[in-house]
Amino acid sequence: MSSPKREFLFKVLVVGDLGVGKTSIIQRYVHNIYSNCYRATIGVDFALKILNWEKDTVVRLQLWDIAGQERFGHMTRLYYREAAGAFVVCDLGRAVTLQSVQRWKDDLDSKVMLKNGKPIPAILIGNKSDLLPHGARVQNVENMGLELEFKDCLMTSAKDNVNIHEAMSCLIKEMIANK
Ligand code: GTP
Ligand code: MG
Repeated sequence: MSSPKREFLFKVLVVGDLGVGKTSIIQRYVHNIYSNCYRATIGVDFALKILNWEKDTVVRLQLWDIAGQERFGHMTRLYYREAAGAFVVCDLGRAVTLQSVQRWKDDLDSKVMLKNGKPIPAILIGNKSDLLPHGARVQNVENMGLELEFKDCLMTSAKDNVNIHEAMSCLIKEMIANK
């Protein structure tokens, strides 16, 4: 006899400046593919990932890939509705994208919250770690993660498939804990 399955459906937002690698992270996670060419996302794209989480739990992730250019738009309130968690992504090769992290975090916290009024769990991602010299310090990104009360902060490479699954698992744990 099979044991009853728990099922979760989570809406997850992926935000951050233009070209930081949001689409690449999602493509790597969902399809395990990567491309060097850059095609800016227009508005929002969606991807679905279904995974077996522990023995009898199924998690459905609805990933909302929000265009970097939307920071200057008025659509984010609509996109953020009922999200359970978020990634804010910056580009380790471009310091200016780290400066935008606070703007993105504030945008999230002012427009979406959990039913209990708390902020949705958010993870800070420093992407393109493959561009840094091996063992390079990323203290400024980690400090930003602590200062802005992100649940965690991870350095990833969509290109080399580093820490992508770890980042997703980290957020899934936070979202399940809120259930
Ligand atoms: P918008 O849709 O405009 O908001 O950008 P985005 O955040 O979705 O960025 P996208 O994933 O399209 O990636 C932008 C560029 O960065 C592309 O040329 C990617 O190939 C490149 N890129 C993405 N991830 C990595 C990475 O981990 N390492 C390196 N070296 N390049 C990456
Ligand atoms: Mg994109």
